[in-house]
Order: sequence, then C-alpha cells, then structure tokens
Amino acid sequence: MDLTVTIAGVKFPSCLMNASGALCVTAEELTGLGRSRSGAIVTKSMTVEPREGNPEPRYHPFAGGSINSMGLPNLGYRAYAELIPALKQFGKPLIASVAGLCEDDFPAIAKVINGAAPDLIEVNLSCPNIPGKPQIGYDAEASERLIKRVRPLITVPMGVKLPPYFDPAHHELMGSVIARCGVDFLNLINSVGNGLFVNPDNETVVIKPKGGFGGLGGTIIKPVALANVRAFYKYFKGRMPIIGTGGVVQGVDAFEHLLCGASAVQVGTALVEEGVQVFARLEKELAACLEQRGYKSAEDCRGKLKEL
Ligand SMILES: Cc1cc2nc3c(=O)[nH]c(=O)nc-3n(C[C@H](O)[C@H](O)[C@H](O)COP(=O)(O)O)c2cc1C
Repeated sequence: MDLTVTIAGVKFPSCLMNASGALCVTAEELTGLGRSRSGAIVTKSMTVEPREGNPEPRYHPFAGGSINSMGLPNLGYRAYAELIPALKQFGKPLIASVAGLCEDDFPAIAKVINGAAPDLIEVNLSCPNIPGKPQIGYDAEASERLIKRVRPLITVPMGVKLPPYFDPAHHELMGSVIARCGVDFLNLINSVGNGLFVNPDNETVVIKPKGGFGGLGGTIIKPVALANVRAFYKYFKGRMPIIGTGGVVQGVDAFEHLLCGASAVQVGTALVEEGVQVFARLEKELAACLEQRGYKSAEDCRGKLKEL
C-alpha cells in the first residue's frame, strides 16, 4: 500500500509521524525517530532559552487518553538548530516546531531555525502567551500579527499548528486570517486545553502544575480533531494541506483523519504510551483499512468523507 504523501511540495515516506512533544525533546529521542518508521521527525516546540518544564507529575495517561502540563521542556532553539543538519541524514522530512513565550520570541527563533534548513517549519500558535491572556491561537488579531511577522523570515514551507475551535464562527475567522497570511499547511489540533482529570479514589488531581488542569490528548479528543480537520478542509476547499493530529491510536483513526481531509497524521499520546514501534503497527492497520475499502494509496481517500 502506498502511504507516501506530499505536503507543500515535500515528499513524506509515510503519512504517519510523531506529534510535537512526543519523544522528540532530546538528541537521542530525535535520532530514535529518525531510525523508526515515522514518516518525519518533528521536533519538540522550541523556546529561546532551554527549559526544564513544570514540576512532576506533569503527564498522566488514563483509559481513553492523557492529560499533561509539561511547561515546554526543551533544549532551546540554538541546540535544535545545531541538531537539524545531522537529523536530515535519515532521509525523511524534518519539521521544526517553533514556539515562544511572547510574540517577539517567534521571529527570533524562526530566523535562526530557518537558517538550519529544516524541510518545513510548524509555528505553534497553541502554546502559552502573556499570563492572563488566551493562547495566541485564540486571539485572531495576535495570530495575524504574529504570522505576518514570521512569514517573511521563513523560506521553507511554513505551517501553523492551531488549538481546537468549537464554533464555526471561529473556524471562519481563523480561516480568513490564514488565507491572508501565506500559510503553506495547517496542523490540527493541539491538545484540548485545560481539562481536569480527577482520581476519585484518593480524591486528587493527577498532575501537579496548574492545580491539575492540563491539555488532553488521545482517543477522547478524536471527534474534536476530526471536526477541525473537516471544517478547515472545507473552508479551503481542499486546497490547504492539513496534518491531522488528535486521537490517532489505531490505523482506523488515521483513516478517519484522511477521510476528513488530512494529508497526513501525527501521533502524540499513543507514541508516548507505546514507543516508536507504534508506527509499524499503525502502518499495518492503516494499510489493511485502505485495502479493504479498495483504496490504492493514502492520498486516494483524502477528503472523501460522505455526508448524509
Ligand atoms: C507530553 C506531550 C507534550 C506535548 N508537547 C507539545 C509541544 O511541545 N508542541 C505542540 O505543538 N504540541 C505538543 N503536544 C500536543 C501534541 O502534539 C498533540 O497535538 C496532542 O497531544 C493531540 O494528539 P494525540 O491525541 O495523539 O495525543 C504535546 C502532547 C503531549 C502528550
């Protein structure tokens, strides 16, 4: 089965790859992704300075998903800029995820990282902004200002990773921002923010930061992810490449993302839980899924979701 895909002119050996944050912080983890069957190496979202992140426990898996408040532990963008050339030797695309703790950080990082020549850059608009303000992706004006600042600094295909939206008005608002800013691809979605998982036995929260509030991932967020993929696929009439992220645990989940309009999918929680072997399993399951339904390739079924 042909699982290769092309996004913004870049060819991927497989449409299944890691999501930023999942086993992609250190040089060792990134090399592990290079050696694995992941269709790309996606880096952890990087900040200006290295960060240890939040106090532990900060990630907790549960039946149906995970909750985390990692606090962006990463090596800092200078370290990733140095690692990128060696990581490109694995013969698969390298996607650098650029974050920032304030708006000025993004252009500073984007400029240097672009110089290290990753194959694509993913600007993470769904991470913390100024305390007391919503994340950038929930502020259409701030998003537009930021994308317009980084766009001229980036010469490789540039995408934005967005938080989930829950109202068609917000899909349209962000769709119009993206259409104006020269974005080459979308990654949908980041964690469903600020969930709360409770352990009823000991009557506690399960992660330490933020009083137990954290981003949700895994099976429980799949319908939200699919809805966002579908809404933006329709908004851009199938002309905007989309990476679908959220709830990919089985091959059939990846198939559903493709049907909704994703060109490729990323795996977060399932990769953390299962390790890099997850890609071989998902590949097999997705291939079987496509074959059963008479599709010849992953690209064949993109957007083919039927409405009633
Ligand atoms: C431990 C962990 C760390 C994450 N770190 C990042 C990150 O640095 N940047 C980012 O864009 N998303 C980050 N995410 C979100 C994932 O990339 C993904 O969007 C989300 O978990 C949904 O996918 P899933 O359902 O497969 O987990 C993180 C998720 C987890 C579980």
